[in-house]
Amino acid sequence: MTHRNNHHISLDIIQKEHEHLSVAIQGMLYFVRSIKNGNDTQDLKIFRTMLYYITEYPERIHHPKEDQILFAKIKERTHQLDNELDALSEQHSNGELLVHRLHDALLRYEFGGAEAFQQFHTLVEQYAHFYYAHMRTEEECILPVAKLVLNDADWKVVDASFIKNQEMMDETGERYNYDQMFAQICSFTPLLNEGTDRKK
Ligand SMILES: [Fe+2]
Ligand SMILES: [Fe+2]
Repeated sequence: MTHRNNHHISLDIIQKEHEHLSVAIQGMLYFVRSIKNGNDTQDLKIFRTMLYYITEYPERIHHPKEDQILFAKIKERTHQLDNELDALSEQHSNGELLVHRLHDALLRYEFGGAEAFQQFHTLVEQYAHFYYAHMRTEEECILPVAKLVLNDADWKVVDASFIKNQEMMDETGERYNYDQMFAQICSFTPLLNEGTDRKK
């Protein structure tokens, strides 16, 4: 069996992007749970920042690279994960719709008050569950197989694609904007050092 280098920059980038997405989702959960516990003075702008971050970063940058490059390469090498990869790609497509629903629910809460809160809260909990499960499948089911089946030439393509993303964002200053948004989310979310709900 050929020895393969198991360290790939694309996997580091994916892992880091998942961690950031988890923090944004954890912030959303903290936001709605604290309202449920009686704190109705939360600044809705912070929730909008979380939604915007998720729309602009994972939805627009992270997921397309997974679909177009990583998942495509895995499918070239094996069909054992076709069903799982198709399901994940469908979830990528649905993600945008779910974010729209969260925007709507937030607006209804903003203008409808307490009566609209339950729906908003339920959608956030569902969204968190959906995304944690999605990332867990990628990390526990897809990436380990990718490490086994992709060859060095495949990894060069995958790594280059994810690195290019980072470089493009640096050139345009886009990454700075994301970092600023992420810093705001982190400063709002107090449970960062106590683990996330991801494994629940
Ligand atoms: Fe994904
Ligand atoms: Fe992902």
